[in-house]
Amino acid sequence: MTCRIAPSILSFDHSNLKSTVAELASGGAERIHIDVMDGQFVPPITFGDGLVKALRDLTTIPFEAHLMTLTPERHFEAFVRAGCGRIYFHAEATVHAHRLVQTLHDMGVEAGLAINPATPAEVAQPLITDLDAVLVMTVNPGWGGQSFIQTMLPKVRAVRAMRPDMDIEVDGGIDPATLPLACEAGANLFVAGNFIFKAKSIAEGISELQRACC
Ligand code: DX5
Ligand code: ZN
Repeated sequence: MTCRIAPSILSFDHSNLKSTVAELASGGAERIHIDVMDGQFVPPITFGDGLVKALRDLTTIPFEAHLMTLTPERHFEAFVRAGCGRIYFHAEATVHAHRLVQTLHDMGVEAGLAINPATPAEVAQPLITDLDAVLVMTVNPGWGGQSFIQTMLPKVRAVRAMRPDMDIEVDGGIDPATLPLACEAGANLFVAGNFIFKAKSIAEGISELQRACC
């Protein structure tokens, strides 16, 4: 599988996100990853659908919302209308994950299940044929710039064994050293915030990650 890079805008200067998104898109980003935090599911508060609307027309590459929120279904419509083609909600934030997948499909978008480090791969099993993607958290959600948790690799392997054909995205601590490990375990889509933010340039950061593909 080829490695596709989904930069997270979280680490970048929030007052300058228009030029950041344009640069990410021209620098080889496959899609834009938008970290939505509600101050409840995770302590910080980040972006709303208004930001997605403001950025949406800058590029045609897909936007995905990573909802780190309680009652994620309350936010589906707003982020779909704003232009996200894939919505990840957290398995830990609902007892009705299957219904939420159906709701997203009824809205015409892709449904992704995000899984915290403490949650086993098995949570995805009953929904696995219905999902468009699984997001395996390789840090605890809430903050950029944390260290990759290596013990998540067997979980990536377990999800890949359930669905050889589906996007498996890893999120947190991805850099040229950790990307190949996640890739070998079966991930094909890689969120990266801090590494790209700190790189010499956005395009250079993305291409360094692409070169690290297994
Ligand atoms: C963490 C977010 C991630 C994170 C990735 O809660 O879901 O998307 O910001 O950023 P880095 O690459 O800095 O770990
Ligand atoms: Zn994320």
